[in-house]
Amino acid sequence: MNRREFARLLAIGGAAPFIPESAWARGVSAAKLPPTPASPDEKFWTAVRDQFVMPKDLTMLNAANLCPSSGPVLDTLYKMTRDMDQDPSQDNRAKLGDGREATRKALAEFLRVTPEEIVITRNTSESNNLVSTGIDLKAGDEVLLTADNHPSNHTAWQEKAKRFGFTVIDIPTPNPHPGAEYYVNAFTKAITPRTKVISITHLTSTVGDLFPAKEICRLARERGILTLVDGAQTFGLLDVDLSDIQPDFYSGSAHKWPCGPKENGVLFINKSAQPKIWASIFSAYPGRVGISKSFEGFGQRDEPAMIAFGEALKLQNEIGRAHIERRSRELTQALMAGLKKIDGVKIWTSPEPSRAVAVLSFQPGNLDVRKLSTALYQKDRIGCATRGGNDRPGLRFSPHFYNTHADVERTIAAMKKYMTTGV
Ligand SMILES: Cc1ncc(COP(=O)(O)O)c(C=O)c1O
Repeated sequence: MNRREFARLLAIGGAAPFIPESAWARGVSAAKLPPTPASPDEKFWTAVRDQFVMPKDLTMLNAANLCPSSGPVLDTLYKMTRDMDQDPSQDNRAKLGDGREATRKALAEFLRVTPEEIVITRNTSESNNLVSTGIDLKAGDEVLLTADNHPSNHTAWQEKAKRFGFTVIDIPTPNPHPGAEYYVNAFTKAITPRTKVISITHLTSTVGDLFPAKEICRLARERGILTLVDGAQTFGLLDVDLSDIQPDFYSGSAHKWPCGPKENGVLFINKSAQPKIWASIFSAYPGRVGISKSFEGFGQRDEPAMIAFGEALKLQNEIGRAHIERRSRELTQALMAGLKKIDGVKIWTSPEPSRAVAVLSFQPGNLDVRKLSTALYQKDRIGCATRGGNDRPGLRFSPHFYNTHADVERTIAAMKKYMTTGV
């Protein structure tokens, strides 16, 4: 099938024809990223943007949902997959196992822990569920959760409570974010001698509430309670240091803020917690060191993707993780400042840097958010997320290091237009 026939086939199937026009699709790597200046300017961030194959007119403000893989990640994924498929012999594939272990090492350095504590999973959902299934809990035990928590860290505990008989207790999450002290006090009051696990989200995907993970983990540790920190929204956004936060478990996805390949994730299992968790999946091809030897035997894996995961971390390190966090915060503040000036916009996310980061939710007056997001995407080429229902409904913007101030200006101009003229 030639290119034109392939495009036609996709069009018949209802999908937009994929026109491979990017440098990557032509098999040419993205231009090399210049070294990060001490104070990165707009020119540098535009060079970062050029590491991605998204067309230049597309403004993506949906990092909290799914990030694009960078050019280096796509290159690695393609090259390693092609190498494997050109010669799928076990002899040729042996090097992929080395690459997978190199990614484990890179993950450990990234999170400031040891490779012996790293499991490479498929995503945060799987990581969270490996924890809620793997800890031995029974009737009479209690698990404390933050109420505004992703289903993989909320529904999962509730469903397993039905099966194993333990009790799940929600800590309410008021809006606006009441501050770190409120949550430390709320957990302190809720802990009983029966509390066995505290499971929180580090940063909520709904309105971007940042939780005091370190303080909550310390409180739990002092009382012999295990902690799971869902890091789907902080891994690759914040310069997360697990040697400082000291959770028992931390989870994340490659395909969110790290801009890695799809369906790769991480589960950190603190050495001290390893004797307290059972593996849930037993099959062939585990990892080679530490907990991965017993916990990561998930059968055949996509090792080229696992290797590309390491490439995503490399790009983040090259740019500088503190710079990435600062940039995402700066763009969020700029979006927030622009939205605040528009009559009728109600912002749900805290402006306080200690209470929020890079996930910004707001209600655009009485506008229908579905129609608004469709108009933003179709007419203005701005991608974002919507939130329906009655609980803090609206739009969500989550900018990342591939966004520029030009994206912010375009977005604010479009929002002003729709808030004035309607959709
Ligand atoms: C806080 C949180 N946890 C877990 C997940 C699940 O991530 P994944 O779909 O990559 O498993 C998400 C996804 O948005 C999330 O926001």
